[in-house]
Amino acid sequence: MRYFLVANWKMNGSQSFARDWLKRLGRHSDDNRHIIVCPPATILGNPEIATLAEQQGIGLGGQDCHAASDGAFTGWVSAPMLAELGVSAVIVGHSERREFAQESDSDVAAKAAAAHQAGLLAIVCVGESLAQRQAGAAEATVEAQLRASLSTSSNTSNTLVAYEPIWAIGTGQVAQPADVAAMHAHLAQVCADMGLARMPLLYGGSVKPGNAGDLLALEHVSGALVGGAALQADSFAAIVDATPAGEG
Ligand code: 13P
Repeated sequence: MRYFLVANWKMNGSQSFARDWLKRLGRHSDDNRHIIVCPPATILGNPEIATLAEQQGIGLGGQDCHAASDGAFTGWVSAPMLAELGVSAVIVGHSERREFAQESDSDVAAKAAAAHQAGLLAIVCVGESLAQRQAGAAEATVEAQLRASLSTSSNTSNTLVAYEPIWAIGTGQVAQPADVAAMHAHLAQVCADMGLARMPLLYGGSVKPGNAGDLLALEHVSGALVGGAALQADSFAAIVDATPAGEG
């Protein structure tokens, strides 16, 4: 299995931090462990960073894109603009955007379609709230989100699905491996029903060096989407190193 280790820096980092991080992580990326780093757009716009990432074998990703390719949308960045920078992926539908920018599933699907149109890998995020989990509605909630957030252009080569339970993001409260296994088995079945068998399914939410090995060893877990621990290059390197080697 090919694993995807995605670092989401959110609104953190600087040009010098990016240089140091890329140099530190370069030797950790290989054919089975594909690293994608998603820094703020200002860092993606530095050609020196793009060259360094390419030299280190690390993919660059955006954290969001607009559904339109251009237009009167002050402050936004479009998928073709990211592609022009040498970016190969973009996160869409992160729970922070769903919450703070009121993005709906259909907004997310439109962004995924725009990403595909621009030749980008769409990293489509889904996840339930604590209240939804406590109500026993986690699987139904996430299934509905997933079905409505994938675009008709989605296939298993241009899309990664990231399951990020909202209550586990930035809280240090990681989901139990048994719960992740159950959710990923369910999502794998949903994807198969949609004609998307073997869709790569990533887990995100308080992934740390100490828990990454157990999570990444689970069936139907093809990688991790990492926030806080990705802001320390050594921690992220340890997470990459915890990924099963070779055929998983
Ligand atoms: P943390 O790893 O900080 O919980 O963040 C996860 C996340 O939101 C990645 O997109």
